[in-house]
Amino acid sequence: MAPLQVWSAPLPSTVYPLPYGLPKGIALEINDRVVVITGGGSGIGAAMARRFMDDGAATVVVTDIDGAAARAVAADVGGEPATLDVTDEDATAALIREIEDTHGGIDILCLNAGIPTDGSVDAPNEDWQRTWDVNVMAHVYATRHALPAMLERGEGYIVTTASAAGLLTNIGAAPYSVTKHAAVALAEWLSVTYGSRGIGVSCLCPMFVDTPMLDAFAGHTHEMRDWVENLAIDVDDVAAAVAEGIREEKFLILPHPVVLDYFQRKALDYDRWIAGMRTLNQDLTRKDVDGRP
Ligand SMILES: NC(=O)c1ccc[n+]([C@@H]2O[C@H](COP(=O)([O-])OP(=O)(O)OC[C@H]3O[C@@H](n4cnc5c(N)ncnc54)[C@H](O)[C@@H]3O)[C@@H](O)[C@H]2O)c1
Repeated sequence: MAPLQVWSAPLPSTVYPLPYGLPKGIALEINDRVVVITGGGSGIGAAMARRFMDDGAATVVVTDIDGAAARAVAADVGGEPATLDVTDEDATAALIREIEDTHGGIDILCLNAGIPTDGSVDAPNEDWQRTWDVNVMAHVYATRHALPAMLERGEGYIVTTASAAGLLTNIGAAPYSVTKHAAVALAEWLSVTYGSRGIGVSCLCPMFVDTPMLDAFAGHTHEMRDWVENLAIDVDDVAAAVAEGIREEKFLILPHPVVLDYFQRKALDYDRWIAGMRTLNQDLTRKDVDGRP
């Protein structure tokens, strides 16, 4: 059989006109901007709210399914609270319209709400669906309703919080890994499609961050918990990386720089990367994800 030649041919220059980085959408200064954050009542979202207000945002609308948490964070940082379940498309559309009417538009939209879901393909369908709805469809809904006004103004910035699990994988958590890959794919697609029309897109992909979400690891092996604890960074470092990423219009925001190294190794030699991850999986779980030793 003749060897496949497809990928050995150089890519036509019309596909990738310049190596990296051009054309740009828009890199924003945060000063005087109207910012909206989903899942802002805790962890990374709350730290972003604080950081944006410190950096001179005109306002930060802190939204969360937990209305009391959103109110507490908004009061703390001097922003505005709103209760929003991001899986409710009608409520998302209504809130976006209300903020646009009140503030004249949304400059920076941070799609940060997310849930961790452990398990293999055997996780219940409801768990898969809920994770898909929160981690992916919420980004579809919010961008569907916020983009028209941004495109009309020729300016806007979207930050999606995915995860290193969306570039690599998350040991023991298939629904989380799969949905975070989809979140990265959507952000990538939005940037490719709208970048030349004034829309900046960044995709935040941290490894572990010291937030209540890490409680999800409570029932795991001590090897896993130690590993997570050693890699966990502070929320303020993540928020600082986001602010810098917006100013520089960086697509991938990687508060753990080592993620770029792992991602490059994965692309360079996928089989070797899989082999390494199998070993890590064994070391951290001492059993496979289906519970077999
Ligand atoms: N903590 C980590 O180690 C880590 C690592 C990588 C990525 N992330 C991602 O960062 C984002 C923020 O997570 P965090 O670590 O700050 O967790 P967190 O649990 O502290 O905060 C998540 C917030 O999202 C809210 N939320 C959950 N479901 C919602 C819904 N349906 N509608 C609106 N709000 C909802 C929660 O009420 C909570 O306030 C998530 O997307 C998460 O996947 C976290």
